[in-house]
Amino acid sequence: MPARNQEQWEKKPDLKLGEWVDSRIYSDEEIFEDELRNIWKKAWIPLMHESELPEPFDFRTAIIAREPVIVVRGPDNKIRAFLNVCPHRGMAVDRRPAGSFLTGEPSGNAKHMTCMFHGWQFDMNGNCVEIPRENAGYQGRVTKEGQGLRRLRCETKYGGIVWVCLDDKVDCDVEGWTGGCLDCIKDSLDEEPLEIFHYHKAIIDCNYKLWHDTNSEFYHDYMHYHNRITGFDDGYFARKCAAFDNGHVNVGTFTVNYGEYEVADDRGDLTFPHLPPNNWYMVDMFPGVNINLRGSAVRMDLMTPLSANKVMIEFRGLGLKSDTQETRERRIHHHNTIWGPFGRNLHEDLVGIAGQGVTMMPNSEPRRILQGRHEGLYIHDEVGMRHFYETWGKWMDRLPSDPSKKYEPGLVVGPEMPPAKGISSFPGKVAAE
Ligand code: FES
Ligand SMILES: [Fe+2]
Repeated sequence: MPARNQEQWEKKPDLKLGEWVDSRIYSDEEIFEDELRNIWKKAWIPLMHESELPEPFDFRTAIIAREPVIVVRGPDNKIRAFLNVCPHRGMAVDRRPAGSFLTGEPSGNAKHMTCMFHGWQFDMNGNCVEIPRENAGYQGRVTKEGQGLRRLRCETKYGGIVWVCLDDKVDCDVEGWTGGCLDCIKDSLDEEPLEIFHYHKAIIDCNYKLWHDTNSEFYHDYMHYHNRITGFDDGYFARKCAAFDNGHVNVGTFTVNYGEYEVADDRGDLTFPHLPPNNWYMVDMFPGVNINLRGSAVRMDLMTPLSANKVMIEFRGLGLKSDTQETRERRIHHHNTIWGPFGRNLHEDLVGIAGQGVTMMPNSEPRRILQGRHEGLYIHDEVGMRHFYETWGKWMDRLPSDPSKKYEPGLVVGPEMPPAKGISSFPGKVAAE
């Protein structure tokens, strides 16, 4: 068949609903706003690792769905999260990416979070402990007791990952949120304390879901030289996708032949506890998280959607806290041969999604993006994306293949979808006020 004319190009694909999505879900600004409200503000987000706040009074700031968040380690060693918003006149309480409140500064007292605008101060529990000239101005109408920071639900779980949820009414904890998708690597992450050894971020002109799609499908593995030469064997193609509640997916493990790649050494002796030597698990969590355990190193990607066509992706590399310097250097090398700037994986993925971002800018013509490969749930099956978009459609009350229409159960998922443990009615479930 020759190249298609306009009418042929715009015709719906001859596939079932759920086997393609409309590209407006990647570019429409109104849909993007709905996503922040309906999805990102209701999800548990793994914002950072506890080792990024090693000492009491350490803090780190972040953003979830445009809401500024500050995470602090208290003198009791407990990690807590608050909205980074001063209750007085709404200034960001602290504007630094990270630091320590242990010592005083011209703009803040020691051991307190100080809003430099008018000097209100808060302790590590978020209690307001100082309002300058409180009685002179308020005569008891506003008191410290009633002016604490907005505390956010925060749990440190699964190898020390710090999870935060903006919505107090969401009726599940982190374990319930994961729905079992991390069970495959839980023991490996929890056996002993982990420590961050790598952090970088990329800001890419594309929708955040395109990055998630790329992590969820392996059909593009021909783009990855490293994967091809270290992994293309029967074990690789026998990896199976599994779906979990809340839109999460994971891809089963297999043994990677690192010896096939000249600068990669065998990772068998440094493989994480409870993981067979040189194995590789990958977990894709709704709505924009990827946790990868590749033998000796963990990679965690967190997406922060910035606009319909812009995403910040933070990449963290983790090893065991007990590492010797030599061991740590080897882990870093392992991490970087694949995921570092000169590695053989990460930048290739970024090039792929940047190319998609070019074709899917706000107000671009709608296109159909196919996700209809069925290969018995094995590695090239696009079931991971179909599962994601089934959940997305439900939470957004929009049909992914035509987002101007309402979601209808059964229309999104093809009959070959794996029986997930049950699609959660999570956004609709709220705790009693
Ligand atoms: S805005 Fe923070 S003290 Fe006034
Ligand atoms: Fe990739």
